[in-house]
Amino acid sequence: MTDSDIKKGLAGVVVDTTAISKVNPASNSLLYRGYPVQELAATQPFEAVAHLLWRGELPTDEELAELRALERAHRALEPEVKALIDLLPVQAHPMDEVRTAVSAIGATALAGSGNVLTAGGSVEQNLERSVRLFAQLPAIVAYGQRRRRGQELIEPRDDLDYSANFLWMTFGEDPDPVVVDAFNRSMILYAEHSFNASTFTARVVTSTQSDLYSAVTAAIGALKGPLHGGANEAVMHIFDEIGSSERVAAWLDDALANKRKIMGFGHRVYKNGDSRVPTMEAALVDLVEHYGRHDVMDLYSALENEFVARKGIYPNLDYPSGPAYNLIGFDTVTFTPLFVAARVVGWTAHILEQAASNALIRPLSSYSGPDERHVPGS
Ligand code: SDX
Repeated sequence: MTDSDIKKGLAGVVVDTTAISKVNPASNSLLYRGYPVQELAATQPFEAVAHLLWRGELPTDEELAELRALERAHRALEPEVKALIDLLPVQAHPMDEVRTAVSAIGATALAGSGNVLTAGGSVEQNLERSVRLFAQLPAIVAYGQRRRRGQELIEPRDDLDYSANFLWMTFGEDPDPVVVDAFNRSMILYAEHSFNASTFTARVVTSTQSDLYSAVTAAIGALKGPLHGGANEAVMHIFDEIGSSERVAAWLDDALANKRKIMGFGHRVYKNGDSRVPTMEAALVDLVEHYGRHDVMDLYSALENEFVARKGIYPNLDYPSGPAYNLIGFDTVTFTPLFVAARVVGWTAHILEQAASNALIRPLSSYSGPDERHVPGS
């Protein structure tokens, strides 16, 4: 084997097939089970897209009603999950909080359910587990933000669909339809993206016939990194550093001189722009108009134009999402947990697909350590 055989980071390596989504950098497009994501974001509630990703088809009215009833049945923060979160330091990073909560949900759900040979579960069991996490994550994320602010838990409202209820549980106010629509679009855009690092992590764990909760817990750990999901939080830290559009050029001079990665820009697959950005940017513009915060758009556009002009590296989905979530009122550290709440749908769809394939994921490595040698006297 020569060094040229080694594909660091699996860059450009096709390791399996998937029927869930198609990322096409050549046409700068993204399909969820064949549907362009921008069409879904413009027309569907997130619940319908979840059904599509899990089951391969958009739901009928009856199927959507059934999924909504199931989601409502599990959307109240479970007392044992709340008790666990309350044991963690208030300063714990919300991604550690979410990861711990999902792990605990799994420990409880699997308690007494047999042994390691049966933990993987059946398709129906894993579909049920998927809906339960889909329903419970908004409560976990919302409570985490409120706890950090010293505010009380808010109980869900059955008169609100998924996205509106998520905002209600976080802020305790009747959510504005403009904000609900922008938030709903962000959840659809964040839901799925083929074999990204966290999804592939979930598939690796599933490939050993481990359980769905272990796979999602591992995926959350992968998503936390600033090169992946953590970037939407990092974008806001950069905005806070720069302050205003007038300071962009000087800030970039310094950042690039120090070889900093500018969070929210670049992508392993998309090299001429992320297909989801125009749709999320439109949602950001709606929020800027709604809140009258044109200063945000000035800084956003100034940094984008300057960085693209200098490096030819384009924004990814995390770039418009960060300021959008900031305008809605989410704390910066809450941004990546929002990504978890959306991506749990894509992760669990891939877990179901990987479990059906039954193929252990185990690549090779090229040894670069010392030649064989022996312990003196052995
Ligand atoms: C997500 O895979 C997915 O689908 C992920 C995701 C999903 O939906 O699951 O789309 C979500 O993770 C989006 C990406 C979020 N991460 C960031 O915004 C972090 C900043 N971006 C970079 O770290 C980088 O662009 C990556 C990690 C995203 C992709 O990097 P690659 O493909 O490994 O390319 P690279 O790092 O080798 O960069 C190539 C060149 C390098 O220059 P040289 O060292 O060759 O001189 O471009 C430069 C890089 O330094 N570069 C950047 C940059 N991105 C690339 N330089 C400064 N800032 C950046 N953001």
